[in-house]
Amino acid sequence: MAKPRIVVGLDIGSSKIRTVVCTLDEKSTTPNVIGVGLAQSGGLRKGQVIDVEEAISNITSSLEDAERMAGEPIHHVFLGISGNHIEAFNSKGVIAISHPGNEITEEDIDRVLEAAQAVAIPNNRRILRIIPKSFTVDEQRGIKYPVGMTGIRLEVDAHIVTGLVTTVRNIEKCVLQAGVDIDDAIPGILAASEAVLTKRQKELGVVVVDIGSGGTSIAVFEEGTILQTAVIPVGAESVTNDVAIGLRTSIDSAEKIKIEYGSCIPDEVSDRETIDLASFSKIDMQKISKRHLIEIIEARYHEIFLLVKEELAKIHRDGMLPAGVVLTGAGSKMPGLVDVARDTLNLPVQIGFPQNFEGVVDKIEDPAYATAIGLLTWATKFEARPFGGVSSRSFGGIKKAFSGIKDWAKQILP
Ligand SMILES: Nc1ncnc2c1ncn2[C@@H]1O[C@H](COP(=O)(O)OP(=O)(O)OP(=O)(O)O)[C@@H](O)[C@H]1O
Ligand SMILES: [Mg+2]
Repeated sequence: MAKPRIVVGLDIGSSKIRTVVCTLDEKSTTPNVIGVGLAQSGGLRKGQVIDVEEAISNITSSLEDAERMAGEPIHHVFLGISGNHIEAFNSKGVIAISHPGNEITEEDIDRVLEAAQAVAIPNNRRILRIIPKSFTVDEQRGIKYPVGMTGIRLEVDAHIVTGLVTTVRNIEKCVLQAGVDIDDAIPGILAASEAVLTKRQKELGVVVVDIGSGGTSIAVFEEGTILQTAVIPVGAESVTNDVAIGLRTSIDSAEKIKIEYGSCIPDEVSDRETIDLASFSKIDMQKISKRHLIEIIEARYHEIFLLVKEELAKIHRDGMLPAGVVLTGAGSKMPGLVDVARDTLNLPVQIGFPQNFEGVVDKIEDPAYATAIGLLTWATKFEARPFGGVSSRSFGGIKKAFSGIKDWAKQILP
């Protein structure tokens, strides 16, 4: 029997670098997780490299951690690209079908997607993904996969995700210098969505909200396909900063206090309950009101969801997504957060635990691992080809943005 293929997801976030290693055998499309690695994101800030040496060392540490657990060397990874530099927009492309019989082929899909890219993208931005949302053949709209149909005019509605060239290149450079090649670079929020959403949720209309450290990324799906992605430059780090300012304590103490005593339910705490800061820091000696802490936390999360609401309003989906909100990212683990999200967004809310994988489950059955697991899901769904890895030399061309598109289109077939 052929040796199972090793697939690795590497999620470089602004607070943590997460590696997940899985095996995939020929028959199964469910990743079997055999190794997990975790390191601090020193050397990176809000998705940008600020210290190359430190970033490489931390990426290496996360990879080595996962290699040790998996007992397998890592040679290449699917890389999740996140951060506040990610932008997205929708674009249309139109082409004429001129070959005999006017039957639409896969080449026509490539051509029409290329036409959709022919928009003014600033020189400092690079396309990370082009996702066909729907096709129109002559006057017939809402077609998911037009190959084999006959027509004269083919139009595509596409969603294009871009990143800052230098930011993406610097991250890729650090990964390559950590000694691994990159199979593909995928916007983190698209990967996370693959891990936590069901086909039905995507069909009904749903928003994934990934609350990371430096920012909150969202992806809206409807009728089985992506409608919009956006990044809000406020994440759980801002909650920590507010706690530090509000309690007049250091960022490190504020983070520890937030994780240990934090919640979004002030009514469950009496006014008299206090927290002794001396147990978190040698400098801070005062006692603080627990209710005050919770009010600070709740206020910032409420603000994050108001910003999500604004993004939904821009696409006329405020309060209008039947499958509601799915929260991911470690920032979503704050007790009581589901209620804050539900009250602010007027939608049903749930925490998005990564699904559809086997193996080392206890460590990663956690919304913080949605992006890392989603990279594996992405690999199995859209890149399922035997060891067709891309080396450091051939990686980085615009063509990469196309990879998996046809597979994607097939996926969204009814
Ligand atoms: N148990 C918890 N409860 C509440 N918040 C938490 C918990 N654990 C971690 N956090 C917060 O989550 C944030 C980190 O989230 P996450 O690890 O998803 O970020 P990241 O992926 O590294 O960053 P980004 O996605 O922004 O690049 C930190 O601000 C941390 O304070
Ligand atoms: Mg993240």
